[in-house]
Amino acid sequence: MQSYKELGLSNTKGMYAKAVSGKFAVPGYNFNNMEQLQAIMTACIETKSPVILQVSKGARDYANQILLKHMARGSMEIVKASGVNIPVALHLDHGDSYELCVSCVESGFSSVMIDGSGKSFQENIELTKKVVKYAHDHDVSVEGELGVLAGIEDEVSHEKTHYTKPEEVQEFVSKTGVDSLAISIGTSHGAYKFKLKPGESVPPLRFDILEEIEKLIPGFPIVLHGASSVMPKYVDMINKYGGKMENAVGVPEEQLRRAASSAVCKINIDSDGRLAMTAKIREVFAVKPGEFDPRKYLGPARAELIEMYKHKNINVLGSAGKA
Ligand code: G3H
Ligand code: 13P
Ligand code: ZN
Repeated sequence: MQSYKELGLSNTKGMYAKAVSGKFAVPGYNFNNMEQLQAIMTACIETKSPVILQVSKGARDYANQILLKHMARGSMEIVKASGVNIPVALHLDHGDSYELCVSCVESGFSSVMIDGSGKSFQENIELTKKVVKYAHDHDVSVEGELGVLAGIEDEVSHEKTHYTKPEEVQEFVSKTGVDSLAISIGTSHGAYKFKLKPGESVPPLRFDILEEIEKLIPGFPIVLHGASSVMPKYVDMINKYGGKMENAVGVPEEQLRRAASSAVCKINIDSDGRLAMTAKIREVFAVKPGEFDPRKYLGPARAELIEMYKHKNINVLGSAGKA
């Protein structure tokens, strides 16, 4: 058993308390490799932002869970050496079983998500409650989910959004004891969030549902998944340098800013990082076709990621200076 406290990590409770009172959102940034982790840590140290480092089941399989633990430990040593004290949580993103959540708690995660959103309401409550019982015994935070995002969730493809039903949130939160709740108000995972006809613009998120939920569970931390903006500059770069991403559309940043200043305490961003990295690597390959040293394309990709995460913290989430 590796306690996250020995690694210098924090659970999410203190971060969310500050986010609720300060009206900002803590970034939930996914990583799979060294360059992504370095970029997230550099951007959050430089902007003095709290951060939730997110590892999906796929990332855990890809990067090796033992290495991940040591990467988190290394990140905390870098934070210490920087002299800037930011809280860092290591979070399981979209945990799909009790056993996976337990394994993550045992290997040093300070927060886990149990995603029972594809199950019936009662089954979701039962599973989430079981995870909360185990996690809270180890002072680890738990995120639950109600409502289903369109797109890929839990390695299952959902054609349609099932918005969170406000009438279910109170019962879910009180029966499970979760520390935060992911809801579905129109965001979705990936780079193709909205199918727009020519001339159409992105529809607004269902802020009415968010406001109703906020009234029913005031001050309770809400999480927004699928919150990449699919930044047009990166889609354009990808297409310019040989890629093919047609009709890739995300959530406009103004809408995310509005969400961050409400009950939304964590905003999950993965796809924007993937796009920034891919765009920069494609540019290097196109401009310097003879380049074959990975540092010469992963380095510029990392530098681009740092700027992208700093922009999110400062201009979208409002988390800069809130560590
Ligand atoms: O919500 C899903 C995240 O973007 C992680 O995606 O399962 O491909 O690592 P992944
Ligand atoms: P995006 O695909 O919009 O970046 O969402 C990421 C996410 O929700 C991770 O859990
Ligand atoms: Zn998600």
